[in-house]
Amino acid sequence: MKRDATLIPPAQIQAQLDHCQAVAELNARQTQPPLAFVDTYGCQQNEADSERLRGWLAQMGYGFTGSEEEAAIIVINTCAIREHAEQRVFGNVGALVHVKRRHPEQLICLCGCMAQQPHAAQKLRESYRHVDLVFGPQALWKFPEMVHTLLTQRGRVFSVEEEPGSIAEGIPVVRQDKIKAWVSIMYGCNNFCSYCIVPYVRGRERSRNPEDILAEVRQLVEEGYKDITLLGQNVNSYGKDLEKPMDFSDLLEAVNAVPGDFLIRFMTSHPKDTTQKLFKTMARCEKVAPVLHLPFQSGNDRVLQVMNRRHTQAEYLEKIRALRALIPDIVLTSDIIVGFPGETTEEFEDTLKVLEEVRFDALFTFIYSPRQGTPAAQMDDPMPRKQKLINFNRLITLQDSISEEKHSAYVGKTMRCLIDGLSGIGPYNLLARTPGNRLIRVAGDSSALGQFLNVRVTGATKWSLLGEPV
Ligand code: 5AD
Ligand code: SF4
Repeated sequence: MKRDATLIPPAQIQAQLDHCQAVAELNARQTQPPLAFVDTYGCQQNEADSERLRGWLAQMGYGFTGSEEEAAIIVINTCAIREHAEQRVFGNVGALVHVKRRHPEQLICLCGCMAQQPHAAQKLRESYRHVDLVFGPQALWKFPEMVHTLLTQRGRVFSVEEEPGSIAEGIPVVRQDKIKAWVSIMYGCNNFCSYCIVPYVRGRERSRNPEDILAEVRQLVEEGYKDITLLGQNVNSYGKDLEKPMDFSDLLEAVNAVPGDFLIRFMTSHPKDTTQKLFKTMARCEKVAPVLHLPFQSGNDRVLQVMNRRHTQAEYLEKIRALRALIPDIVLTSDIIVGFPGETTEEFEDTLKVLEEVRFDALFTFIYSPRQGTPAAQMDDPMPRKQKLINFNRLITLQDSISEEKHSAYVGKTMRCLIDGLSGIGPYNLLARTPGNRLIRVAGDSSALGQFLNVRVTGATKWSLLGEPV
């Protein structure tokens, strides 16, 4: 993809801001500012997108509400990664028909990955006629124009054409948190793992210019953010499309050089693209948190090949060894799919072997879910669901015992933790994160919110730690 075709020209963003102004003028005629309800499903990228949708809505003169009943505009930002996510959205959107009956002037918008799939868009067009606006992730930058159209003309708007995707800078943002922030560094994915819908709905890989990323990080640090996560479907291929090539390690180094006391995290990494250079950069950069989320999906080489993952079990384990040689206390997490089409129980047991060998701190585990349009959805899938569940439970049981053991090893240690929330229960009323992002509940008062405190770990369960400031 040519670089200049990827960047949305500033004049077009300005045109969207003009649409915001026009909508704000319409909204100002109301006795009270109209309210928006934004609901987000799915991953961190969707959370980040919703912060931009809120930015546009605020610019259009909307306030915010947590009630669908009160809302003049409802925006549902959807996920398509598994069937369950999609079913939940259809259920909840279906129920909105009653809300809309009571408030016929209400606008209902559905966006995100699910909207970008042709079968879902068609179903919305035909059977969910109370939905006024449907648009995919690639059209988020045009949201004000679409709302303006809806408010001034009759009819529904669909913007779900397949396109490689673009980069839009200068979209306003209303962030949900004051301590942690997401920064997208790239969009889309070129990997086409055979089970995954993401490349079809989020378009081709494209990297933001480093200057734009660094300006955003600087601003966040000035605003007092302490925990910044760099986001991308595959951050390790950052920069391949830039005019002046720069890789992810170089970017990490540049973010680390931004003055201030803050932590840098990033996700997601692909094992085939993680390099020794990255590990060395992580070890050297003091702000980069000692944690790596490195999905391996399956421990079996045949399954990995059919998944189109382009790495083997041995290569994965070798990378983990290399990383641990440089950062011995690195916290490791991973994603795993159980029950990929054709996976036998024997092959699944290779996944358990990887767990035993690596001893991850935590896992995100999924049962395979067929996604229309992906190659895996066409493959023979003879294993009964009952057997998949048995395998899945074996995985969970093994990981639970590993997590518990890993967590107990923290007891007695003192770590610099970021206090990032209030639990509201018992004496351990502060929520905090260890440098490796493990959840720890800390005894203390709410004035510590947003601070780094040295915390001694006093207890552990398989899910979290308990601690006291020292
Ligand atoms: N079925 C089950 N899990 C999936 N994932 C992606 N696609 C599917 C699917 N079709 C999982 C992968 C990925 C994580 C974000 O979701 O493990 O890493
Ligand atoms: Fe999906 Fe694979 Fe891309 Fe991750 S790397 S988003 S699993 S296609």
